[in-house]
Amino acid sequence: MVKVDLSGAQEFFDAAGPDWAAAAEAHRLLDGRTGAGHEFTGWLELPQRIASGELKRIVAAANNIRKQGTALLVVGTGGSYLGARAAIELLRGGNHNQLPGEHQVYFMGNSLSPDAINELIAILGDQDFCVNVISKSGGTLEPALGFRVAKALLEAKYGRAGAKKRIYATTDANKGKLHDYALGEGWEMFVVPDDVGGRFSVLSAVGLLPMAAAGIDVEAVVSAAEREFQALNLRSPENPAWQYAAARQNLYRQGRGIEILAGYEPSFRFMAEWWKQLYGESEGKNGIGIYPASVEFNADLHSMGQYIQDGPRTLMETVVSFERSNSGYKIPFEMGDPEGLNYLAGHDFAEAQRAAMNAVKAAHISGGVPNIGVSVPARDEEGFAALVCFFEMACAISAYMTGVNPFDQPGVEAYKKNMFKQLAEL
Ligand code: PA5
Repeated sequence: MVKVDLSGAQEFFDAAGPDWAAAAEAHRLLDGRTGAGHEFTGWLELPQRIASGELKRIVAAANNIRKQGTALLVVGTGGSYLGARAAIELLRGGNHNQLPGEHQVYFMGNSLSPDAINELIAILGDQDFCVNVISKSGGTLEPALGFRVAKALLEAKYGRAGAKKRIYATTDANKGKLHDYALGEGWEMFVVPDDVGGRFSVLSAVGLLPMAAAGIDVEAVVSAAEREFQALNLRSPENPAWQYAAARQNLYRQGRGIEILAGYEPSFRFMAEWWKQLYGESEGKNGIGIYPASVEFNADLHSMGQYIQDGPRTLMETVVSFERSNSGYKIPFEMGDPEGLNYLAGHDFAEAQRAAMNAVKAAHISGGVPNIGVSVPARDEEGFAALVCFFEMACAISAYMTGVNPFDQPGVEAYKKNMFKQLAEL
């Protein structure tokens, strides 16, 4: 289970402290399915449902995808792509596509950039590949256009009949343009459940099929997630989801309008992107909401470190860490000690990383930035599942604490209306 450390935030809470009664009430609304948007709370049962439903077929399809070539193109945007990318980068590494023997997984359909399309085509070269198109609504512009490209590439290489066996569609079970298209063409289909919104869908086929194709043990992810949601049902201030939600809301009430999610593993970068969507889209509405931002330490200590230490005191910082590293690497000894660092020789980089974390935490707290610690034992399937369940649960509780519906996103329609008007004029 995730551990939350509020020791670095205590001195910044107001006299009342975290509002446990409000967290309890928000949890009651969520679990009792009585809060706003309750018809989109199916994510709470996704692990059990998928284990007794599509999971075996997902694993079989992923094995097939791995046999059919060396690469998978995942076409989707927002909640239909960020979770899978976050999982694959966290568990296989940010450079997984360059590692020998890895099944490559690329993402498209999240931009309208011709340069990005041409770059991907160049990277694919003459590799054998499959396509997983993911869209719950089936009508989102970016993946719809991206899929046209991916399908044309497949058909050019394998012909229409060959392409059919290489397209996997993840969409609504009964309706939508992609659903009808896939059914008509006879592509293998997977479901985005009706009662699960895009940003809460990573533990459905949306996330699990690309993850399995990348070689992640999705059965381990699902069973860990099932245990995690059960543990997070605890009704007490000991619940880490309550601790995180109530702490950030207390700090927000005092004018801390920006939360920075910091990680010390480069492979965490897309977990932070997933988290930003989860919290930004769930909480930022009705004129309120904490702005979710992210930094990657140590790299960003040399860029954003100045602002965090010395800029406007409107920040709070949440630091995600892993208690142990997956591997070790000893700091080398250097003859002549050119930079005076031989006192570190023989220590592991993980020790230096831990020292940096402690030092940064103390510096930022003394600079007036509250620090919330979030940790899991390791960067593995269980750790990933724990982080997903924790952040989803805390997000819903936190949003309910402010009185907003965590599960809608009325604000994203405004740009779409304008964009389609502009497109019609092309
Ligand atoms: O969380 C959400 O609802 C959004 O980010 C959607 O996932 C995103 O807009 C993609 O939608 P769709 O899956 O319908 O193409």
